[in-house]
Amino acid sequence: MGKITAPCFRERKLDGDRLALLTAYDYPSAKVLDACDVDAILVGDSCAMAVMGRQDTLSMTMDEMLHHVRMVSAATEHALVIADMPFLSYQISVEEAVRNAGRLVAEGGAEAVKLEGPPSIFGDTIRAILDIGIPVMGHLGLTPQSIHQFGGFKVQGKKPEQREQILEAAMGLDELGCFGVVLECVPADLAADVTARLSCPTIGIGAGHACDGQILVMHDILGWGFTRFTKTYVDVKAAMEKAFKDYVHDVRSGAFPAEEHAYK
Ligand code: KIV
Repeated sequence: MGKITAPCFRERKLDGDRLALLTAYDYPSAKVLDACDVDAILVGDSCAMAVMGRQDTLSMTMDEMLHHVRMVSAATEHALVIADMPFLSYQISVEEAVRNAGRLVAEGGAEAVKLEGPPSIFGDTIRAILDIGIPVMGHLGLTPQSIHQFGGFKVQGKKPEQREQILEAAMGLDELGCFGVVLECVPADLAADVTARLSCPTIGIGAGHACDGQILVMHDILGWGFTRFTKTYVDVKAAMEKAFKDYVHDVRSGAFPAEEHAYK
């Protein structure tokens, strides 16, 4: 397995290869994902919901993100490590955005950053981050940091003017030099149109089959998922519940620890 870098993404699209991405937020999970040949591990701000028990991604801070990025980058040799830029880490000013993107790389060990929104708002920010040598991934459609504006976690791009905006924004991100664009919760035919128009790969989540790659939240494919677009590959939650119940039972009944678990 060779090392995946940001430039590999465009090459993979040219070669017609599909990209498989997952999120991870800690060392042991990232270690397993890396050994399973995933192309990139996203330390997403979905961490706030998947492992911190929060209702949305908005409260994730830079310090929290750095904490998780460090664990993932320490475990990863093959996959590209992408760090999400938390809410308010890139919206205030270009200077702050560059500093925070730099921290995710210098202190966290990330190899690329992802931020949400169109180039009409974040074009200068993306250019400035790219200018200091940090690859940027875009994110359009249902951008979870804007849920209050959308009125909740709702499919985006159903109306003709929204479709046009997403298409135009995706083309703008491609032209700026983003190495990939995440399309979240958009109709499959819109994702197909966008994919056909970009030279960088589209990475879909709830965006149908035509995208150049797919990303899912790791916990969702392990049995904690509840959205239409996810798929449970193995019910780890059920396996954990069984293990914990068996342990409690064994301790209470005296079956654990047995002789082989004790030191002589
Ligand atoms: O935060 C996240 O995990 C994400 C993806 C699911 C695209 O942004």
